[in-house]
Amino acid sequence: MMNKTLMIGAVGGIAVAGAALFYSGADKPGQGKAFIDPSDRNLVSKGKAVYETHCASCHGANLQGQPEWRKRLPNGRLPAPPHDETGHTWHHPDAVLVDIVKYGLVPGKTAPEGYQSDMPAYDNVLPDSDIVAVLAYIKSRWPADALKAQKEVTLQAE
Ligand code: HEC
Repeated sequence: MMNKTLMIGAVGGIAVAGAALFYSGADKPGQGKAFIDPSDRNLVSKGKAVYETHCASCHGANLQGQPEWRKRLPNGRLPAPPHDETGHTWHHPDAVLVDIVKYGLVPGKTAPEGYQSDMPAYDNVLPDSDIVAVLAYIKSRWPADALKAQKEVTLQAE
């Protein structure tokens, strides 16, 4: 389970054990390996609405993140990072992104032991289909090279 360690966050190098995370909803019949597809326009427009309602307040209307997002807040936690290509979201496979949105940064799984984070967990707020849609929207904003790299890590991660 913990055989793959990825680095997360520009900031502290948060270890992510991301090899075999559970997720569902990204698989589409006939498309083989799960890859959340940002060329699906319906999915992206649904995801944009989810983003504006649930994510933009912290991650920014334009995916720009909070100001000085690399600098810890007085409470020791990190601000919300950008989801555009200046952040690190695109360094993570889809399974890790789905997991973080569902459960937040979980110590021992997607964060180091004892880690505290202001990223909320959406498992009781959004159905998986909305989580997949919002990630499709975020991905639709990445330049082609970032998307290509993220697709590779996603397909390798499984
Ligand atoms: C209350 C503020 C807040 C809201 C609302 C919020 N986030 Fe976050 N998010 C954060 C913070 C803060 C972090 C960085 C956590 C850390 O490193 O401790 C984060 C991190 C993340 C990460 C990991 C990014 C990376 O580079 O590894 C993802 C993915 C993410 N958020 C997606 C979302 C999505 C999708 C939504 C909406 C459904 C959302 N967040 C809503 C605060 C928020």
